[in-house]
Amino acid sequence: MFFPEYRARRLRRNENFRRMVRETHLHVEDLIYPMFSAFGKDIKKEIPSMPGIYQQSIEHIVAEAREVHELGIPAVILFGIPEQKDPVGQDAYSDDGIIQQTIRAIKAEVPELTVITDVCLCEYTDHGHCGVIIDGDVDNDETLKLLAAEALSHARAGADIVAPSDMMDGRVAAIRELLDANDFAHIPVMSYAVKYASAYYGPFRDAAESTPQFGDRRSYQMDPANRREALREATLDEQECADFLMVKPALAYLDILRELKDNFQLPLVAYNVSGEYSMIKAAAEKDWIDGERVMMETLLGMKRAGADLIITYHAKEAARVLGK
Ligand code: PBG
Ligand code: ZN
Repeated sequence: MFFPEYRARRLRRNENFRRMVRETHLHVEDLIYPMFSAFGKDIKKEIPSMPGIYQQSIEHIVAEAREVHELGIPAVILFGIPEQKDPVGQDAYSDDGIIQQTIRAIKAEVPELTVITDVCLCEYTDHGHCGVIIDGDVDNDETLKLLAAEALSHARAGADIVAPSDMMDGRVAAIRELLDANDFAHIPVMSYAVKYASAYYGPFRDAAESTPQFGDRRSYQMDPANRREALREATLDEQECADFLMVKPALAYLDILRELKDNFQLPLVAYNVSGEYSMIKAAAEKDWIDGERVMMETLLGMKRAGADLIITYHAKEAARVLGK
């Protein structure tokens, strides 16, 4: 294949040619939409750094869940903002906690929508860390018991999939074991297997009111410099019987997505995180970029890198573009 006999541009000449040789596709069924459920009544508060994304009380969450379902998006992932926070995050594993109530409300009104729950303690602890603090750091093994209890409580409330995001060692096994012992062997675990200590979570922490009150998350979330460690983390979660593997954030970690795609057979999820969303929204607001096209290109890039599913705040907008 040499120029001038071979010309790569031949197959780019018209839209049908381009459609016929297109290698990657984004579908509405690839999308998962995150929602923030806030304690209280008639709350719908836009997150300043995330235009279009709200902290909402349950009746508004249910209305949006219906809209998401009608757009053809198969699943939502829920985060909770409880009435009370405390050192051990009790609302997280209370059968009457904010998320448990939200799950029941969505399942009653929009039963066909798949409900995934974020399993972590940072939204429920007064110190904002993802587990129990002992001697100034998050204690791994004490935290495991609470995470497993949280996942079980979500399953009891009707969650379809539980997604631990805490980065404790052994949490997938701990959750699997407790679910299996309580007749929830059919509930899949979507593991945030490879989660980096990232500044891209900034806007989320405003949304979930989960900023650590001291220190940072670097004693449990991964160092952004590490690629081989990502393979070790994914291997552990696979051995612990995770049903999905996730890479988070996505945009600065597309190489990690590809690495996992090439080395594991489990369905792979990319989390297109809050800061990635905010950057596109801010630049589009200034008219510096075409927000819709940059959004679609970014999501497509994540699929091309290897993602089977994408958790994204853009899900509703992307579904509308795909439906045109
Ligand atoms: C909780 C959690 C976080 C995100 C998802 N689950 C924040 C964090 O670890 O600080 C981030 C999501 C986003 O930025 O969109 N552990
Ligand atoms: Zn957390």
